[in-house]
Amino acid sequence: MQVLSVASEIYPLIKTGGLADVAGALPGALIAHGMGVRTLVPGYPSVLPRLGKAKAVRRYDALFGAPAAVLAARVGELDLLVLDAPDFFAREGGPYGDPAGGEWGDNWKRFAALSRVGADIAAEGLKGWRPDLVHAHDWQAAMTAAYMRFGPAHAVPKVVTIHNLAFQGRFGADIFTHLGLPPEAWGVDGVEYYGGTGYLKAGLVSADAITTVSPTYADEIRSSVHGMGLDGLINGRADRLHGILNGVDTAIWDPMADPLIIKPFSARTLGGRSANRRALEARFALDRDDAPLFIIVSRLTWQKGMDMVMSAIDHLVGQGGKLAVLGSGDHPLEGAFLAAADRHRGRVGTQIGYDEPLSHLMQAGADAILIPSRFEPCGLTQLYGLRYGCVPVVARIGGLADTVIDANEAAVNAGAATGIVFPSSDPLGLHGAITRAVRLHANKADWRAMQKAGMRADFSWTHSAARYAELFRALVREAE
Ligand code: ADP
Ligand code: GLC
Repeated sequence: MQVLSVASEIYPLIKTGGLADVAGALPGALIAHGMGVRTLVPGYPSVLPRLGKAKAVRRYDALFGAPAAVLAARVGELDLLVLDAPDFFAREGGPYGDPAGGEWGDNWKRFAALSRVGADIAAEGLKGWRPDLVHAHDWQAAMTAAYMRFGPAHAVPKVVTIHNLAFQGRFGADIFTHLGLPPEAWGVDGVEYYGGTGYLKAGLVSADAITTVSPTYADEIRSSVHGMGLDGLINGRADRLHGILNGVDTAIWDPMADPLIIKPFSARTLGGRSANRRALEARFALDRDDAPLFIIVSRLTWQKGMDMVMSAIDHLVGQGGKLAVLGSGDHPLEGAFLAAADRHRGRVGTQIGYDEPLSHLMQAGADAILIPSRFEPCGLTQLYGLRYGCVPVVARIGGLADTVIDANEAAVNAGAATGIVFPSSDPLGLHGAITRAVRLHANKADWRAMQKAGMRADFSWTHSAARYAELFRALVREAE
C-alpha cells in the first residue's frame, strides 16, 4: 500500500514543533506494516540544499500564478516530494512567518498551493507511482482533502490529522474565488467557516477519517472547552474520529546511543547521567550541586502554561530547586524568563532560541521536565523525558494525561509511577507539583524507581503505527 503524506514540517529538515517529529518518524514506522510513504513538503531554504540528487517529477507553469516543480529526493530514510515554488517558499524566516514573528500575508496561497499539488498527485499519480491513500497534517495540508473531494481524486481515501486545533488556517471569504474550487465547495459542508474560509474545517468535513494525536485529546475536542469552535462539527463526525498516540523515534531519542549527549546511559547505568548533568549546569551557568534540577524545553506560550511557570519560579528556587529553560515564543515571556535568570543567578538559567542538540543534553542531565500545558494534543517532550530518566511533571490534560502515571502513594508502592501529574490550568496545582517533586527527589530509592519505570515504558511507534496501518487499510477496503 502506498501513502502520500502532506505536511508543512518534517524532521530533520524543517521543524518548529512536534508535527515535524511525527511527520519524520511515522513513514519509517509504517514500513513494518507493508506501507510505503512519500511525503510532500514545501521547498523552504532549509530543505532544498539538503536534497542532493533530486529529480523534477512534475512541473507547473503557473501554480497560483507562480512557476513550481515537484522534486523527488531521498534524505536518509525519507522519501520526499518537495514543492519547489520560490515565490512561495524561498524566503528567510520561519515556515509560517517573517523573522520578526509576523505571519506571512500570503499563507492562504502558500498552503493552498501545497494542498493543491497533493490533490493533483492523488489524482494523476507520478511516473510509476500512485498513492492508495492521502494523509494530510494540520491546517497547512488539510485543504488537500478538500481539493480531492471536489476534484478527480474524490474516491481516493483521505485522512486528516489534527496536531493542534488552536491553529485552524482561517482567512477571509474573499480568497475563495482564488482557490480554484467549484462553487459548491462554498458552504457549511465545505470550506466556508463562520463567514470566512477555514482550511482545517474544510479538511475535517472532507476527510474520510479524522485522527488526532492522543485518545484524551480526541475526547476533549468534542467539548466546547477544547473544541475551539469546531466541537460541533467534530461531534457530528465522531464515528470517523480516532485518537492515536504519537510515538518516539527511538533511533533519534535513545539514551544509550545518542551522539548529542556527553555520556550514554541506560536504566541500569543511571549514574552515567551525572556527566550530562554537569555539562548542562555549565551550559546554563547553574551551581554545580545535586539539588533537584528541572528543565523546560518548549515554545514559550500560553498553551504551554509558561505564564504560570513565571509565578512558580520563586517557589521552585525557594524549595531548593534549579531550573534551566530552553525555548522561544511570546516576547514578554522570553523577557520574563531572562529576568528570572538574572534574579536567581546560579539557580535559574535561560536560553532563548531553538537548539536541538541542547534539548537532548537537557533531557539526559536533568532530574525533571516541567510541562504545565493548558491543553496538549499529545506532547512529545514528556515522552523524551520518560525515555531519558528525566521525570515528567505534567498537567493532567490531553496526551500528557495518557502517558504519565502520577506518583500517588499507591502507584509509588506498586512501582508504577512514572511522573507527577497535577490539575491543568491551576497555578497552585503547579506549586504543589513542584513541592512534591522536590520531596520525592529527596528519597533517592523512590526517585530512581520512578526513573526506571519511565524508561521501561514503551512509547515507541510500534503500537501507534499499527493503529494507523489498520485504519488506512480499513479506509482503502471501504473505498473499493
Ligand atoms: P509542540 O509541537 O506543541 O510545540 P511537542 O511536545 O509535541 O510540542 O513537540 C515539541 C518538539 O519541539 C519536541 O521535539 C521538543 O524537543 C522540541 N522543542 C521545543 N522547543 C525547543 C527548543 N527551544 N529547542 C529545541 N527543541 C525544542
Ligand atoms: C502539536 C501539539 C503537540 C503534539 C504535536 C505533534 O504541535 O501541540 O501536543 O505533540 O503537535 O502531534
